[in-house]
Amino acid sequence: MSRFPSTRLRRLRRTAASRALVRETRLSPEQFIAPLFVRKGQGLREPISSLPGVSRLSPDEAVAEAQELRGLGVPAVLLFGLPERKDDTGSEAWDDGAAVQEAARRLKQTIPDLLVATDVCLDEYTAHGHCGVIRDGEVDNDATLPLLARVAVSHARAGADVVAPSDMMDGRVAAIRAALDAAASAHVAILSYSAKSASAFYGPFREAADSSPKFGDRRGYQMDPANRREAMREIALDLDEGADAVMVKPALAYLDVIREARQRFDAPIAAYNVSGEYAMVKAAAGQGWIDERRIALEILTGIVRAGADFVLTYHAKDAAKWLREGA
Ligand code: PBG
Repeated sequence: MSRFPSTRLRRLRRTAASRALVRETRLSPEQFIAPLFVRKGQGLREPISSLPGVSRLSPDEAVAEAQELRGLGVPAVLLFGLPERKDDTGSEAWDDGAAVQEAARRLKQTIPDLLVATDVCLDEYTAHGHCGVIRDGEVDNDATLPLLARVAVSHARAGADVVAPSDMMDGRVAAIRAALDAAASAHVAILSYSAKSASAFYGPFREAADSSPKFGDRRGYQMDPANRREAMREIALDLDEGADAVMVKPALAYLDVIREARQRFDAPIAAYNVSGEYAMVKAAAGQGWIDERRIALEILTGIVRAGADFVLTYHAKDAAKWLREGA
């Protein structure tokens, strides 16, 4: 093996041109999905204090936001809904007139080539804040499945291209697939939040979506952050049940999970660069301690380098602008 002084890896680092030629990982706005929080109303843009730069939007504002994203080359949005009322089963989640459904309809009418994905879960809609129905103080897995299926079918009816179940109930991908197929929505894809950990990184999201559990926590259904082998079992099961793409969430503290999933599975893999990861960057940048642009692009590059095909990220709009300007 040749070595120093004949081998000098610095040679190809000397100029921007050679660095570009040998760059192994490229970041493009086409790899981003922008999460949007929607609520009923008109002309609403309510800033979310825990997520600087992100707002709760009424459906018309969601269309405006998506138009801007589309113009920057971001192909997709993921919708989260804030309900007008909460109840024990989260029934507004499958109301065809609710905010997510209205926003999905308007987005597909106005921007047909935008990919509209929807988060399928009950926690924003239940009074107790859990991702399923409660029986004897616990989230009842099997009683929750038909409700999730109804949510997915309602989203599909509104025009969603992709439904993304984030509840972590066992068997939900199969239940949703069967319900979609029975409802003439065989064309709607499932992006499963397969390896989703019970993470403190969701803190700012729960403020944004008002979805903190009112008792207990989510450790009875979301994964233990310590388990990588179990994450592979979750992914394998979801693919077997019919998931079209799978997700690892959060991203930053789970790059090894993304990497191993990439090596084991040929299905598309998404990573969710979650609210806490974004909020930490914004907070430190706000203090002037870090360079937000370089940090955000480095983080997104790392997630893609680990093996993610695409990234759900609150940085989507800014990152798309930075990439266009030539970072
Ligand atoms: C559940 C859901 C959550 C997130 C996405 N879907 C919150 C949770 O599981 O508590 C978190 C996303 C983020 O932190 O950015 N509907």
